[in-house]
Parts: sequence; structure tokens; C-alpha cells
Amino acid sequence: MSRPVGPRFRPMQVSDLERVMAVELQAYPFPWTRGHFVDSLAAGYRAQLRVDADDGLIGYSVAMAGVDEMHLLNLTVTPARQGQGHAQALLAELGQAARAAKAATVWLEVRESNARARALYERWGFESVGRRKGYYPANAGRREDALVMRWTLGGSEEPAP
Ligand SMILES: CC(C)(COP(=O)(O)OP(=O)(O)OC[C@H]1O[C@@H](n2cnc3c(N)ncnc32)[C@H](O)[C@@H]1OP(=O)(O)O)[C@@H](O)C(=O)NCCC(=O)NCCS
Repeated sequence: MSRPVGPRFRPMQVSDLERVMAVELQAYPFPWTRGHFVDSLAAGYRAQLRVDADDGLIGYSVAMAGVDEMHLLNLTVTPARQGQGHAQALLAELGQAARAAKAATVWLEVRESNARARALYERWGFESVGRRKGYYPANAGRREDALVMRWTLGGSEEPAP
């Protein structure tokens, strides 16, 4: 039987963190530390990689499962692979997992200035439901607000992108 070609998903492991951190540092002005990922894996959060057939890292998501909800903590696509639908694939995979876990809602926070991510989430069906004042560090010692977004999981399909 031939092996599948094209991108696929697999769980993130501690041994992946060197490559994950290389992407994280490219993708964000205020990246997570290695410790954030280590703690997330130790806590049993749902951390998925999107990889090429040769295991090249495309992107990842980290989500914390609650009783009937999921909280998306990190969604990142390596800069060279952005604009190719990989974030939408990561959201679709998360939505399937959330539905399988009988979650009704997926929550996330996003920087108010992150127009690209906000547009992606809105098109995907997230709605902005609140604001956390000064939630993120920003340049020159300032803070930036987070918008709290909620995706209410409906039927069995993810929204059309
Ligand atoms: C925000 C982020 C996750 C989006 O990832 P992405 O893989 O580029 O997103 P997608 O390709 O799935 O969709 C985004 C865009 O690509 C377009 N697109 C989808 N498939 C495409 C394809 N085959 N060819 C060209 N464009 C495509 C989408 O229509 C969408 O259009 P837009 O550029 O007008 O928004 C990514 O930019 C990123 O990692 N940014 C840095 C980290 C970050 O801000 N994360 C979010 C924190 S809350």
C-alpha cells in the first residue's frame, strides 16, 4: 500500500519543539517560549502539527479541552507556507476533534491589531464576544487588548471557507 502524499496531521511531541520554536520565533513579535509548549504538552493539551509527507513542519495548533468547550491557545503557520489554506485546515481539524469530544464551543483570544487572523476567524464562523484589556505585551512596554472570539459548533460540517 502506498503512503499518503500531501500534508497530514500528527500530535506534537517534546522532540518537535526545536522546529516548533523556529517557526514560533519567525511568526510572532511576542512568541511563546519553549516552556509554554513544554507546559502545554505536560498538561495534556491538544497539540497538533500539520506536516508535509516528509514531516516538514507547516504549522500547529494548541488547544485546551474543557468540559464542553475547547480553548484555542496557539494557531500558527510557518511564514513561507501562509496563504495556502493551512490555517483553515488546522481549524477544520480542531473543529472535528471538538465535535468528537462533544464540545459545543471553541474560544480564542486574538490581538486586536492582527487583522489577518481576525478575518480568518470571522470567515470561519467565530464571532467577537468580548475584550480583555491589556492582555498582550506590545512594543515600547505597552499592552494591547485581546478580542475574545467564540465559535459555536453547529452541525457536522465546518463552514465553507
Ligand atoms: C493567521 C495565520 C494563522 C493564517 O494562516 P494561513 O495558513 O496563511 O491562513 P489560510 O491560508 O488558511 O487562510 C488565510 C488566507 O489565505 C487564503 N488562501 C487559502 N487557500 C489559499 C491558496 N491555496 N492560495 C492562496 N491563498 C489561499 C485564504 O482565502 C485567506 O485569505 P486572506 O489572505 O485574504 O486572509 C498565519 O498568518 C499565521 O500563522 N500568522 C502568525 C501567527 C498568528 O498571528 N496566529 C494567530 C494568532 S491568534
